[in-house]
Amino acid sequence: MATGRNENIVWHPNKVTREDRQRVLGHPGLVVWFTGLSGSGKSTIAVELEKMLNEDGKAVYLLDGDNIRHGINADLGFSDEDRNENIRRISEIAALFQDAGIITLVSFISPFRKMREYARERAGSEHFMEVYVSTDFETCCQRDPKGLYKKNIKNFTGKDSTYEAPLHPELVLDTIDTTPAECAKMVYEEIKKRIR
Ligand code: ADX
Repeated sequence: MATGRNENIVWHPNKVTREDRQRVLGHPGLVVWFTGLSGSGKSTIAVELEKMLNEDGKAVYLLDGDNIRHGINADLGFSDEDRNENIRRISEIAALFQDAGIITLVSFISPFRKMREYARERAGSEHFMEVYVSTDFETCCQRDPKGLYKKNIKNFTGKDSTYEAPLHPELVLDTIDTTPAECAKMVYEEIKKRIR
């Protein structure tokens, strides 16, 4: 992992603070980090939630794994090393977005605890909430919204690539008995407590 440490690079201070930006936008930034298997429902819920927040006048932006892999992370595959780099980059981007005052929804499988902890650290724990979309492997296999479970893809999460479930997420969503809109509403209630 690149560290980017260089003794000749010195942090340059800003004159506009987090509080100044909050005054303009009316709320602080926050990272809402969705994790779960492919097809668990993360992005469907995040899309609903983004719409709700936008209609409520909040500054919100969704960073989605599949979309980000078309652009800034197009050079990465699905080895453990590439997934770690994928999450490292998006952790930095999410930390910047939330510092800018945006409610930043992040929807990536993000299978490794260590990297989700990294994301939390970079944003600052008080500006971060982890949402575990806990849909089990069998259900994701049956739903298979993108037809990927049927294919024999190497290093597929839950098959021959590990998924480490969160130990202490701020929220767990059950998508079997709860609709995406209901799940989004539950996350919104938690967000409200953090952006007051
Ligand atoms: S992560 O593991 O590095 O966080 P990310 O969320 O960016 O993954 O991308 C996951 C998406 O890529 C899945 O929703 C699925 O559509 C697609 N995909 C393609 N190959 C794989 C694979 N080997 N394992 C999991 N998802 C894959």
